[in-house]
Amino acid sequence: MTAYLLDVDTGIDDALALAYLAALPDTEFVSVTATPGNVDADQVARNTLALLELCGRPGVEVAIGARRPLSIPLLTTPETHGPQGIGHAVLPEPSGQVSERDAVDLWIEHARSRPGELTALITAPLTNFALALRKEPALPDLLANVVIMGGCFYYQGNTTPTAEWNTHVDPHAAKEVYAAYRGRPFDKLPIVCSLDTTERMEMHPEHVRQLAEAAGAVVPELVLPNQPEGQRSTSDNVLVRHLSDALRFYFEFHRLYDQGYLAHVHDFFAAGVAAGTLEYSARPATVDVETASPLLVGTTVADFRGLWGVPPNARVVSGNNPAQAFSELVSAVGDLAARVG
Ligand code: BDR
Ligand code: CA
Repeated sequence: MTAYLLDVDTGIDDALALAYLAALPDTEFVSVTATPGNVDADQVARNTLALLELCGRPGVEVAIGARRPLSIPLLTTPETHGPQGIGHAVLPEPSGQVSERDAVDLWIEHARSRPGELTALITAPLTNFALALRKEPALPDLLANVVIMGGCFYYQGNTTPTAEWNTHVDPHAAKEVYAAYRGRPFDKLPIVCSLDTTERMEMHPEHVRQLAEAAGAVVPELVLPNQPEGQRSTSDNVLVRHLSDALRFYFEFHRLYDQGYLAHVHDFFAAGVAAGTLEYSARPATVDVETASPLLVGTTVADFRGLWGVPPNARVVSGNNPAQAFSELVSAVGDLAARVG
């Protein structure tokens, strides 16, 4: 059993990550917290609750922490993830309520009560995690593993030419998090899934078709580049319908930026790394984040050669296997969709 503390900004690829973890038989969602990023924190929390319910996981505590980045105004991205953050999908109103507890307190309370047991996965800006580390500096020792989706290292950014979205939304938080990991033992260092390898996770319409087939959907799920933008799925399988509507938007967005009719599903990959189900390799690095320069704000820098003379504070993913990842995604989420309908 893997017990997770998740922090998300759901988000199309966050939604896929949640569905994937929900599909695994040995997942315990200890708590899922919302950081503002793709959409504001309230919308993130609503999306997350609704999605978990659709995936047959009602009753998971979903909580909000920070409502804005540590030091700069919040910027959201409706052009990337749609007005509600789930692309063209309109999720049903969740029947559960967003928790009244504070996300940061929840993380600390759970980490203290189950030392060495919990896997942390953050697919959002690092705001809540930075606040948790401020309040409980022993958090790195208390958590079993930490996986972060964020950054890009000598690789084109997706928000500015040198910055990745999660880090760009709250660069000060990211800087604090990496600073907090200085001098920590190697096996406690966060595993960082940056654009360098997450952009290799290209989801195509064919994967959606295969997923619907694995779910036993009656009608083939065809999301095609020549169909009108915003066309909605008519699948008889509710989970397939929502994921298909979400992913269609992501395909359209990537096409708009000349990347093809496909979607980079960053957060799904990070979820698979956290679950230990996806193949990857990683190498140690000392990571820091630029917060001051207007030109480079949000840029992540990795010293792989020890040039700064500072010990590593992260394990940066350097290789992965998209074919293995997508066959795992299709079969796991396809089975889940078959179960929940
Ligand atoms: C990251 O930014 C968000 O838009 C995605 O959900 C992902 O976590 C990729 O840069
Ligand atoms: Ca995300």
